[in-house]
Amino acid sequence: MISRSEAIELVKNTSKFSHALIASVMMRMIAERLGENSLEWEFVGLLHDLDIDQTRNSINKHSIITSEVLKSKLPEHCLYAIKAHDHRTGFKPKSKLDKALIAIDSVAIIIEYAKRQLRELDVEAVKVQIEVVALERPWHKTNILRCREIGLNLEEFLRICIDSLETDRYQDNTCANL
Ligand SMILES: [Fe+2]
Ligand SMILES: [Fe+2]
Repeated sequence: MISRSEAIELVKNTSKFSHALIASVMMRMIAERLGENSLEWEFVGLLHDLDIDQTRNSINKHSIITSEVLKSKLPEHCLYAIKAHDHRTGFKPKSKLDKALIAIDSVAIIIEYAKRQLRELDVEAVKVQIEVVALERPWHKTNILRCREIGLNLEEFLRICIDSLETDRYQDNTCANL
């Protein structure tokens, strides 16, 4: 298994580093709520877009390269979740981990955007933001509603995701690495 510092080192120079930090802490907190392996889930969130800068012009390879780079560094089910997070790879989401990553990938994008616009983030404000984004990019709402498939209603899912950004783990990572 990859170490935390090795994972951060790999991802920190990519254009998605702040997205990766947000997704990783959300994955960790959702895993804790569900009684899943929080370290694995955190690494999956942190590393899922590792190849983004290499695959901008060949997006169907997005996450395939990542899974090859991480082959001996993460368990197979984690690599599968990374491959399944983008539907263009053809890998279908099966496990809770796969589905959580899809939901969190979209919610991380929306919350990161909302954080810049709003003084205070709360569940209702994020729900409004999801509807606004859905007008042009409806798949984000569909992805986020997959939270129900892992046993969480939308309100609780959003509450955990929003609160995760107040945790020391997120704050420490952000201060230490940005
Ligand atoms: Fe991605
Ligand atoms: Fe992503």
